[in-house]
Amino acid sequence: GAEIRQAAGDGSQFGVRIEYIVQDEPAGLAHAVLTAEPFLGSAPFVMYLGDNLLQGGMEELVREFREHEPEALILLTPVPDPQNYGVAELGGDGSVVRLVEKPLEPATNLALVGVYMFTPLIHDAARAIEPSARGELEITDAIQWLVDTGKRVEPHVVRGWWKDTGRLEDMLEANRLILDTLERRVDGELDGAQVDGRVVVEAGAVLERATVRGPAIIGAGALVRDAYIGPYTAVGSRCVIERAEVEHSILLEGSSVRNLDGRMESSLLGRDVAISRGQTQPRAYRFMVGDKSEIGIL
Ligand code: G1P
Repeated sequence: GAEIRQAAGDGSQFGVRIEYIVQDEPAGLAHAVLTAEPFLGSAPFVMYLGDNLLQGGMEELVREFREHEPEALILLTPVPDPQNYGVAELGGDGSVVRLVEKPLEPATNLALVGVYMFTPLIHDAARAIEPSARGELEITDAIQWLVDTGKRVEPHVVRGWWKDTGRLEDMLEANRLILDTLERRVDGELDGAQVDGRVVVEAGAVLERATVRGPAIIGAGALVRDAYIGPYTAVGSRCVIERAEVEHSILLEGSSVRNLDGRMESSLLGRDVAISRGQTQPRAYRFMVGDKSEIGIL
């Protein structure tokens, strides 16, 4: 919670106003809705699970929700492992017939995306349902209650969705989804540098004798010198990449990569991580690595 507050603050850096409401126990998403009821009142609202990412954003979907005025608008996407999600069954006319939370034997491969739009009727639904086998008030069951009581639940099948499962491959996929939406913008300083394609170089970044191939982003205050940055790389602010090649990777702020012989790829570096090849003898690997890290050497 504290880290989220630190990262998002009062929202002014994003041009929005953020207020925090804390759910006092992990009692399910429908319980979270009820926790927010005094704040939400009679307003329709979006519920957006923070570990879900939609490539195209959701403006269009909100517009449709406003226009069509269903009691709920849900997003579905085909997944290879539907048993890990809420799963939807649609009728021949495309309407929602059944929603089941994490079924052992999924009827379809259509998973519920963690982005929902509701009218205040969802509060009644959340009060009407019982906790699931995992002891939670499931939002999936609350939406099923809307279906069962004859209310309109509008499904939309979407692409370009990602969910945080904490795996490196997923982080890299999320990074690719976002970088694919970049538009070229070079505000930093180029000195003998070549910048190809959809690349963002933020103000204060310096590229010296470097080649960057998009889609890629170089954060504010970063230094890229005598280096190559390949496609699908996100370089955080204040990072330094010197005499090295980096591709398809995420470097969080303050990290550095120096003097590598080979190319670093498909990697994720946390904040203030330093990677370098030393110049002194004896030649040996030297590491200082935090918990749950993973290092691959070929
Ligand atoms: C929740 C919902 C599930 C939905 C998923 C999407 O699952 O219960 O229906 O498919 O979010 O991210 P949870 O993250 O609680 O396992």
